[in-house]
Amino acid sequence: MRAVTYRGPGNLVVEEHPDKPLQPGEVRVAVTGTGVCGTDVRIYKGEHSAYAQAEGRVPGHEIVGRISESAAADLGPGLEIGSLVFVAPNLGCGHCVQCRTGNENLCPDTDGIGITLDGGFADQLVVPARAVEAGNLIALDESCNTDTAVLIEPLACVLRGQSKVDVHDDDTVLVAGGGPIGLLHIALAVTRGASQVICSEPSPARREAATRAGATLTVDPTQDDLAEVVADATDGLGMDVVITAAPIHAIQREALELAAPRGRVLFFGGLPKSRPTVELDTNIVHYKELVLAGTTASSLSDCQEAADLVAAGDIDLDWMISDVRPLEDFAGAVEQVQDASALKVVVTP
Ligand SMILES: NC(=O)c1ccc[n+]([C@@H]2O[C@H](COP(=O)([O-])OP(=O)(O)OC[C@H]3O[C@@H](n4cnc5c(N)ncnc54)[C@H](O)[C@@H]3O)[C@@H](O)[C@H]2O)c1
Ligand SMILES: [Zn+2]
Ligand SMILES: [Zn+2]
Repeated sequence: MRAVTYRGPGNLVVEEHPDKPLQPGEVRVAVTGTGVCGTDVRIYKGEHSAYAQAEGRVPGHEIVGRISESAAADLGPGLEIGSLVFVAPNLGCGHCVQCRTGNENLCPDTDGIGITLDGGFADQLVVPARAVEAGNLIALDESCNTDTAVLIEPLACVLRGQSKVDVHDDDTVLVAGGGPIGLLHIALAVTRGASQVICSEPSPARREAATRAGATLTVDPTQDDLAEVVADATDGLGMDVVITAAPIHAIQREALELAAPRGRVLFFGGLPKSRPTVELDTNIVHYKELVLAGTTASSLSDCQEAADLVAAGDIDLDWMISDVRPLEDFAGAVEQVQDASALKVVVTP
């Protein structure tokens, strides 16, 4: 197989790998496309802790493909050789309390396809037996756009976040950060019936994309007073939900101030590990009875739910695919996603 292979910081090269014969339970997927995200940029730069000792590993965790070979007794519901699938990347141990309650993303013994295991920037991928058994191969309808379907992975994370803070009908929602993740938050909040979605984002190109995603109002936080905009837009009430979708300290602090009494705040974007702390006025949490929440990655059921949303056409995301590039041009794809005008770039063999 041909695969983008990690050979150290800044060194990801397309190499030939010997085709591995399948072990019992494993399934081979012929990749149609894999999305490039911020995590892949960190891997490329040698900044991802899981890649500290990962010489020879293949990244890529937003994977869509077709089942090409199987050594599994049972592929799972609706699946056969040739089926179009989304490959859910997170694998739990299967027996700890988190796995047993459907929170595989919180398993202390978790693995990630494209993170700790070989991933999808390749022409094919061997899906581990325990992933096949757990149901990580999720059937996609033939009618679905295979490029857009790579977004099921980040959408599943976003969905987990919005389920945690119960974004629902008539909520007013502020999304701070209009990168690919913030845009998915906007689109999902609209799908869930939010009455107002405000996006705060310094980049004009991304503010435009936020409007395309369904934001009712966009704000440049470097020019405008966000607190004033929120007060004007909500008759002084504040936002029912505030979602931080950028790794910025100040927006975590501001989130508490911008939330309405009984508001829900989702810390979705983590902070740099070198400086993960912020000073928060917790009296605001106390007097406004705020709920503060966080989520990380996604479970299998989040992936299934995200795939269902995309399949049902309940969320329109085709416009988010900025470009589709060949495997050989992986470096170009990584460069492109670092530009504010690019949303999601897909790499295809
Ligand atoms: N919780 C999860 O499961 C999960 C999953 C994926 C990504 N993330 C996190 O979500 C965040 C966003 O991801 P992304 O891929 O969209 O990143 P990104 O860097 O592409 O987007 C961040 C955006 O924030 C904007 N920004 C910068 N300063 C700002 C400010 N003061 N106010 C508002 N916006 C500002 C930037 O211009 C940029 O467009 C990252 O922190 C990422 O690590 C979390
Ligand atoms: Zn990702
Ligand atoms: Zn577990």
